[in-house]
Amino acid sequence: MSIMLGELEISHPIMVGAGPWSRNAASIQKCIDYGASAVVTETITLDAHPTLCPHIYAQDQHIFNTKLFSDLHLEQWEREIKRIDKKESKLICSIWGSSASEVSYLASKVSQIGADGIELSLFSPIGTRNRMIVDQSEKIIEFIAAIRHAVHIPVIVKLSYEIGTDPFVTKQIYDSGIRVVSAIDGLKGLSDVNVETQSVKMPTYGGFTGDSIRPMALATTAALKQNTSLQICSVGGISHYTHVLGYLMLGADAVQLASVIQTHGFEIITKIKGELSRWLEVRHYSLEDIRGSALSSLLPFEDLKPQPLIAAISDCECLPECQKCTAACLYDAISYGASLTIEPSLCVGCGICVDLCPCHKLFLVWQ
Ligand SMILES: Cc1cc2nc3c(=O)[nH]c(=O)nc-3n(C[C@H](O)[C@H](O)[C@H](O)COP(=O)(O)O)c2cc1C
Repeated sequence: MSIMLGELEISHPIMVGAGPWSRNAASIQKCIDYGASAVVTETITLDAHPTLCPHIYAQDQHIFNTKLFSDLHLEQWEREIKRIDKKESKLICSIWGSSASEVSYLASKVSQIGADGIELSLFSPIGTRNRMIVDQSEKIIEFIAAIRHAVHIPVIVKLSYEIGTDPFVTKQIYDSGIRVVSAIDGLKGLSDVNVETQSVKMPTYGGFTGDSIRPMALATTAALKQNTSLQICSVGGISHYTHVLGYLMLGADAVQLASVIQTHGFEIITKIKGELSRWLEVRHYSLEDIRGSALSSLLPFEDLKPQPLIAAISDCECLPECQKCTAACLYDAISYGASLTIEPSLCVGCGICVDLCPCHKLFLVWQ
């Protein structure tokens, strides 16, 4: 299952992304021991960043955080990295700097202290200091040039949803010599408003991550694959091996697990890796057989031809208390009397009833 990410060879596609699960030697060692092919450190900056308490908020399926960068000094990182037994795994140091000279200094430093690769963080959903970097693509290119000049180890550029789906910027990144990107970082979010106290739960904008951002991350992977020749480490909302398969089928070369480790513990790395292997083995597929296999089914909107379809029912035995389809039908095409009936002349073929039916009794047919 080994994969070449540019010049970095990893033994399988399940990596671990940057975050509190890769905060120091002990947590990085756990990621390695539980089977990650590569671990990206929490983002290292020139100064240690004091951490707010609390800094992680969980609400329904959503995860929010106000944890900006690593709380360890560069010198502490040197000591931490020395303690790690990398085994077969690769250590990728995530770095963030506010100027080209700062990122080039950080890159040289982490390369000297044992990084096998660098992930350049350009964007953080928390705080406002790096807005000027993402607003100016020439700054991104300047940073990349500075790092490539400073070190000879592989460099991955981490993209936000906005940058990853922008064909102009991603082409410039490719033209600057970068061959591998990771995407996406968290989105900017707010957890909730307490209506009794009339105040926000999280005291500042935070990173919004986890299952809920998978659709944006999937779209970014597909857009990157369609717009560029970049290799992609997909990250965003992966909590199950089928999510990994989805990213691979959209053309990802590898994936990074993140929030799922925070919510399910390090064991999830072994579980997802094992289940992915078994799925491939049973079907006698190699990674190459499935990589990008779903892309041909993703068409430009303009190429899709409207088809006259309407809803139909396979079996009228419904639970009277369900009524999910009748509630969602804005044009009263579905009604529940003695049984479920569909009035074809009122159905516009939107398809939502098909997806909402818990018993899969509805489908679309030609009018
Ligand atoms: C608590 C927390 C801290 C994070 N810290 C970093 C970081 O230091 N550097 C970075 O590039 N990404 C960081 N991330 C973003 C993740 O690496 C990842 O891009 C994002 O969480 C999306 O993946 P997910 O939906 O699977 O969590 C952090 C995410 C969380 C939840």
